[in-house]
Amino acid sequence: MYFIGVDLGTSAVKLLLMDEEGEIKNIVSREYPLSFPHTGWSEQNPYDWYDKTMDGLKELLEGFDKSQVRGIGVGGQMHGLVTLDGDDKVIRNAILWNDGRTEKQTEYLNDVIGKDKLSEYTANIAFAGFTAPKILWMKEEEPENFKKIKKIMLPKDYLNYRLTGEFVTDVSDASGMLLMDVKNRKWSKEMIDIVSISEDMLPTLHESYDVIGHLKSDIANELGVPSDVVVVAGAGDNAAAAIGTGTVGDGDTNISLGTSGTVFISSDKFAVDKYNSLHAFAHANGAYHLMGVMLSAASGNKWWMEEILNTKDFNKEQEGIKELGENNVFYLPYLMGERSPHNNANARAMFFGMSMDTTRADMTQAVLEGVTFGLRDSVEVARKLGVSITKTKISGGGAKSPLWKRMIANILNVEVEVPEVSEGPALGGAMLAAVGAGVYKDVKEITDKIVKVKEVIKPEPELVAKYEEKYQKFTKLYPAVKDLF
Ligand code: XUL
Repeated sequence: MYFIGVDLGTSAVKLLLMDEEGEIKNIVSREYPLSFPHTGWSEQNPYDWYDKTMDGLKELLEGFDKSQVRGIGVGGQMHGLVTLDGDDKVIRNAILWNDGRTEKQTEYLNDVIGKDKLSEYTANIAFAGFTAPKILWMKEEEPENFKKIKKIMLPKDYLNYRLTGEFVTDVSDASGMLLMDVKNRKWSKEMIDIVSISEDMLPTLHESYDVIGHLKSDIANELGVPSDVVVVAGAGDNAAAAIGTGTVGDGDTNISLGTSGTVFISSDKFAVDKYNSLHAFAHANGAYHLMGVMLSAASGNKWWMEEILNTKDFNKEQEGIKELGENNVFYLPYLMGERSPHNNANARAMFFGMSMDTTRADMTQAVLEGVTFGLRDSVEVARKLGVSITKTKISGGGAKSPLWKRMIANILNVEVEVPEVSEGPALGGAMLAAVGAGVYKDVKEITDKIVKVKEVIKPEPELVAKYEEKYQKFTKLYPAVKDLF
């Protein structure tokens, strides 16, 4: 039996083929363009998601017995606004999770509606990348487009809609729309009124492992798979990555170093802190989680390598970095604004502390350290809330770098547990599909069975102390320049 997991990411879609024992049989990926039409804006064409996924699926299955495919599960980039008209045509490019155009609408929600009310209705406050402020932006800035809206969905739900014809979403991804009552796992009538839409424009809510339907017959034929392949509701990419790394027990943590950087803390019970400093969302295992989110993580390193240093050889650049904890150069990682903990769409990146003897390697090191200090900010918020974080799983492209993992262990003072499979969201998607198909009774059973840790990186006390000092300095930089953004 085979299960397909899809990670509908920001730079590419990754597809993974897994058997029922959890053995990975094949992984392929397809890139698609990301456009920045204005500074701080970020858009993608949903048709690309579908076309590239279909193309990738064909390669994924080449040489395998397609009649053995039983299920598909998608984990997707969260918060993106996809709007369809009455003919199911995409009205405009999707406005993505790292888009900062909604400053005015975010302020309106937080200051005029009020954070208390938002938190009461949804367990969260407004951030520029969330879906609700984008709906308000469309209403105010593109009224003609707004009037055409018949369906509102998230990126992976668009893919599932094309694959199955079912207009549905899952609770983990829907949590990030600021339209869902997270605690009770249902749409918030109040929020629906506030953004001037109606509930029939929103997809039906499901748990992530629920079967939502089957592949449309023409798609099953095109791929050569059985017509009864089940598709599960899937999850937001962070919740899917948490499943893929086995982050499902109370207090278990996963750090994702993808385009975004996230600190995901699984929790059995619903909880929200009074400042809403971390997102309080539903988890894909039926429970809940807290999450801190950085908007530019591995993407910041990619920008530094490719746009500025003009290289694709990330390893070679990192080989030049010898001494940890001694760097005098600091980097604020806010290329696309920042969510946790600053909630400032206008924040920008910055280097600080260079001298004539600063080297290219020092600057690269500063970029990796700056992102890691940013992750520490979220970990500190959680620690202040009483969550004890002493170890973490890790996933995402950045997790391939041994140097970066060592920085995480020492800057955060945690043990870093590296799972055997680093394709968190895609693996999580395939695992949810296996649960949906009934091969496993629940998420816990499949994570216990198939998620394995291949390496543990322990913090080194001397380095932890050196980085502690550096981190204290880092925390002073943003407040010092904040008013200039
Ligand atoms: C989470 C978030 C990002 C995206 C990246 O809140 O915005 O992690 O999901 O794909």
